[in-house]
Amino acid sequence: MRRPLRIVLLGPPGSGKGTQAHIISELYGVPVITTGDILREAVAKATEYGRIADGYMSHGELVPDKIVNGVVGERLSKSDLENGFILDGFPRSTPQAEFLDSFLEEHGLKLDYVIHVTLDDEAIVKRLSNRRSCPNCGEVYHLVSKPPNKKGVCNKCGYELVLRDDDRPDVIRNRLVVYREKTQPLLDRYMEKGLIKEVPGDYQMDRLPEQLKKVLG
Ligand code: AP5
Repeated sequence: MRRPLRIVLLGPPGSGKGTQAHIISELYGVPVITTGDILREAVAKATEYGRIADGYMSHGELVPDKIVNGVVGERLSKSDLENGFILDGFPRSTPQAEFLDSFLEEHGLKLDYVIHVTLDDEAIVKRLSNRRSCPNCGEVYHLVSKPPNKKGVCNKCGYELVLRDDDRPDVIRNRLVVYREKTQPLLDRYMEKGLIKEVPGDYQMDRLPEQLKKVLG
């Protein structure tokens, strides 16, 4: 039996974390935990924390650590993670990284890799204006590099695709500022632990699975 795989994906908004997370998940049968998706679902359902999160997300700010740590702690305690997990979009701040370290230590677990997905700012702004997402199943497309089979319609569930509210250029710019200030410092933390593996966010899409296999050994 394969040993469990525990991975964090770090990188600026729109660099391709979610895309790579889902490829790794298919390759190794490990579930993806995407904090952005969990929060967007809470916003759509207008739950108590969804209403709070909405005010931060629509401006490209981080949702408070206390809320996000609570959500992730609950998800990591579920029983479907015996093969490990892929954290897409968590941690994003020092308090979140400290929370993850304590959680892992308490449960006698360790991270295997932190994948740093790299892409420059101009490419990010251009790319996100071409991203379309399915509000029903969360599938992500790109009008040029990964178009849906039928224009504007999700291949998987047939829902109409949308441009995410926070994919407007002004909000993207703020997400990039927040990334540099709050999340980028985590790279040093994981570099010191020897966990970082870099993968370019513009790696040729059809060769990504092969490349990720190589990176993860
Ligand atoms: P979240 O949803 O996590 O957004 P993000 O980190 O900004 O990342 P994205 O989902 O925008 O992009 P991605 O890197 O996954 O790229 P993707 O694969 O889609 O968070 C949203 C908000 O929620 C945050 O701003 C914050 O408010 C809140 N939040 C979430 N987590 C939080 C936390 N931990 N703490 C506090 N607040 C939190 O790719 C982008 C596009 O490029 C797609 O169209 C894709 O098809 C295309 N693409 C990908 N790879 C390639 C490639 N190799 N070649 C060509 N095209 C590609």
